[in-house]
Amino acid sequence: MIKKLLFFILFIIYFTSSTKLIVYCNDISGRNDNNNNNNNTDNNNKIIKCNTYVDSSSNSTFGCGTLNFPCSTIYSAIQSCDTSYQEITITIVPGTYYINTTTFGIITNKTINIINNDTTTTTPPPSSSSSSSKNLKQIETDLASSDSTSSTQPFVLSNKVIIDLTDAIDSFINIKPSKASDLTTIYILGITFKNGNQSSGSVILNQGSWVDITIDQSSFINNVANQVGGSFAMISGIGNSGGGSGAINSTLTLINSSFINTTTTLNRISKLAPSSSSGGIIYSNSTTSITINECRFFNNSGGNGGIGYIWSGYLLMNNSSIDGSDCTPAFFFNSISGMGTGSPLFLVSNTTFSNATGGVGFVVFGDYSTTTFRQCTFSDNVNTTPLLLSNSFSNVLVDQCLFLNNNNSKSTLPNSAGAIHIIDSSLTIESSVFINNRAAIGGAIQINGSLPDQYVKIYNSIFDANNATEIGGSIYSQEGQLYLYSCQFLNNEAVAGSSVYCLNSNINFSNMTFSNNTDSSIPTPNGIGCGSGKVCSIQGDQQFQNSCSYDYQPGKPSLLTPGEVAAIVICVIIGAAIIATILILIVRKISRKRNGYSKIVNG
Ligand SMILES: *[C@@H]1O[C@H](CO)[C@@H](O)[C@H](O)[C@H]1NC(C)=O
Ligand SMILES: *[C@@H]1O[C@H](CO)[C@@H](O)[C@H](O)[C@H]1NC(C)=O
Ligand SMILES: *[C@@H]1O[C@H](CO)[C@@H](O)[C@H](O)[C@H]1NC(C)=O
Ligand SMILES: *[C@@H]1O[C@H](CO)[C@@H](O)[C@H](O)[C@H]1NC(C)=O
Ligand SMILES: *[C@@H]1O[C@H](CO)[C@@H](O)[C@H](O)[C@H]1NC(C)=O
Ligand SMILES: *[C@@H]1O[C@H](CO)[C@@H](O)[C@H](O)[C@H]1NC(C)=O
Ligand SMILES: *[C@@H]1O[C@H](CO)[C@@H](O)[C@H](O)[C@H]1NC(C)=O
Ligand SMILES: *[C@@H]1O[C@H](CO)[C@@H](O)[C@H](O)[C@H]1NC(C)=O
Ligand SMILES: *[C@@H]1O[C@H](CO)[C@@H](O)[C@H](O)[C@H]1NC(C)=O
Ligand SMILES: *[C@@H]1O[C@H](CO)[C@@H](O)[C@H](O)[C@H]1NC(C)=O
Ligand SMILES: *[C@@H]1O[C@H](CO)[C@@H](O)[C@H](O)[C@H]1NC(C)=O
Ligand SMILES: *[C@@H]1O[C@H](CO)[C@@H](O)[C@H](O)[C@H]1NC(C)=O
Repeated sequence: MIKKLLFFILFIIYFTSSTKLIVYCNDISGRNDNNNNNNNTDNNNKIIKCNTYVDSSSNSTFGCGTLNFPCSTIYSAIQSCDTSYQEITITIVPGTYYINTTTFGIITNKTINIINNDTTTTTPPPSSSSSSSKNLKQIETDLASSDSTSSTQPFVLSNKVIIDLTDAIDSFINIKPSKASDLTTIYILGITFKNGNQSSGSVILNQGSWVDITIDQSSFINNVANQVGGSFAMISGIGNSGGGSGAINSTLTLINSSFINTTTTLNRISKLAPSSSSGGIIYSNSTTSITINECRFFNNSGGNGGIGYIWSGYLLMNNSSIDGSDCTPAFFFNSISGMGTGSPLFLVSNTTFSNATGGVGFVVFGDYSTTTFRQCTFSDNVNTTPLLLSNSFSNVLVDQCLFLNNNNSKSTLPNSAGAIHIIDSSLTIESSVFINNRAAIGGAIQINGSLPDQYVKIYNSIFDANNATEIGGSIYSQEGQLYLYSCQFLNNEAVAGSSVYCLNSNINFSNMTFSNNTDSSIPTPNGIGCGSGKVCSIQGDQQFQNSCSYDYQPGKPSLLTPGEVAAIVICVIIGAAIIATILILIVRKISRKRNGYSKIVNG
């Protein structure tokens, strides 16, 4: 019963809204311009190419499609091309375009370019003076003094092409391969997509084709899905069956783009019921390699939404920020569980995760992947544990990262840490700084169990002014194997174990500095507390071996055992898997219907 309750609590939904406007654009290098003939064949390659033009101020939907005589709608521009086109380039004049008919239909093995015609009068992205080089001491002094983590303003495009999907009847682009070798290439430059609302992938749905998708300087505003992937759904299928045969080289590349105001609210029976949507913006169930560079995610929300759900795939995220996410998880959910591929890589660098309220932030779950966070910042997250590693045999590295002002002391989740929560997982932390993080237990880090050969190793890092309202001001370790080398614990506070609280764990301290750590129950020299009646082994430097205070005994430990915590997490995962399965069935059904529909149209 209690477990069930906790399970539901996991899904408690928060609603917020705040403001921020965005968008962007730059130069494009000429792609097939100067060609007003919308029906031509490249003689060398025998590729049938079509260049077509759209202008909302035009009044033509027939016989149109040239630069001088554009069509008024995207649909009529596509219709102006011979249906056997292999490559289509749609150039769109700034304006708002409402989609209420089919667009491309279900496509495969084609190249689609969608270009904002106005590439000259855009304001370049402002050069950000963001703090990036990570000298530990510098971070400490710079950031502790002033909270100057001002978010980089996203790009602003003065002349927007807005595609409003409110009344769309399908994903804007719906790809379904007929053969494993089909390759669909998509390039989108300078387009804003808003208000999409399909079952999956409101902007792009890939049902398993080999794809090469690049989105540049575009905006995605409030595109939702009631199943998976509000904007992009990359699901497994014949071409890409999650690590098996076929197109395993699919790419989804997002550059200089913004993702704003996505509110995933569908399929919520009540606030306590799990939502059946996953991947508020991006979902991948295929081996797609996802690259996110110079992107901004603002004010997105939704229960069980997450910015990205990556059941299988690769993630390279660089120079980006996720701000104000009220999703669960707030950021990403990464897993390759059951997909059986080699060693996927999740590499996140120079990225800021801030102001989240979803309960958990970035979740790493599942087997044998490699996940690295380098020079990332996790700041100002509220009632949320920014990074959760759960039941993972992943090789996770946190390198030169900053965890600042995360306040998780009122978390609704059990045993939720202020910065990083580790359940039966391994982690290495190097040259990182934890300042002013809060939780009830484990102000910065909480370890909840470890299997044989699972270790938490922390090198050359600083824990400053972290606070637990109960125990483990900086670190709480229950049944953990913890190694601390050359770390500094300064100004931390808790009732007991203001630096480190040890329960049934092995802890090894080498070359440590402890200063001004305050245990409000019984003062201890270094702020190291141990649970009484439990075996706590402190090794390493001689001076710390006898420094554990066993004096403080917490009242009834309201802690869940690692097994119980794992059970809760697994319930969540299984729930999501069931939903995903249902989705596949629905997607199949829909595609069948759509196939029928397009036959009628073509006939
Ligand atoms: C996002 O939502 C806020 C509040 O509803 C609104 O003021 C703002 O204009 C929206 N931003 C965009 C880009 O739609
Ligand atoms: C367009 O291409 C089709 C075949 O692909 C051809 O039959 C037709 O004549 C072409 N039209 C023009 C205007 O070139
Ligand atoms: C609209 O159509 C009329 C004729 O039907 C034409 O004279 C006029 O130039 C068109 N306007 C635009 C903006 O294309
Ligand atoms: C699509 O919208 C246009 C105007 O924006 C309207 O004239 C047309 O009837 C609509 N079509 C459908 C199928 O709803
Ligand atoms: C896919 O398209 C390419 C050219 O775009 C063509 O050479 C190839 O034959 C097509 N494959 C299929 C299965 O139609
Ligand atoms: C579209 O772009 C072309 C080439 O840059 C330019 O000549 C033309 O004026 C643009 N059309 C509109 C309506 O802005
Ligand atoms: C977090 O939100 C606050 C207020 O909503 C804002 O001032 C701050 O800039 C945000 N932090 C980041 C890193 O965006
Ligand atoms: C897929 O990528 C691998 C290495 O990146 C390459 O060797 C292989 O040729 C690629 N396959 C296709 C079909 O492009
Ligand atoms: C980090 O990201 C910011 C914002 O995208 C960028 O301006 C800065 O140059 C990046 N720093 C490094 C070292 O790449
Ligand atoms: C740390 O937490 C305790 C207990 O909630 C609180 O009394 C104390 O003021 C906090 N310390 C700081 C520096 O906020
Ligand atoms: C010991 O830790 C300090 C930082 O607290 C570091 O500067 C020093 O290099 C470390 N010494 C060794 C031998 O690792
Ligand atoms: C994703 O892949 C897993 C494992 O192959 C499968 O169980 C699940 O049904 C798939 N879901 C979707 C939406 O493709």
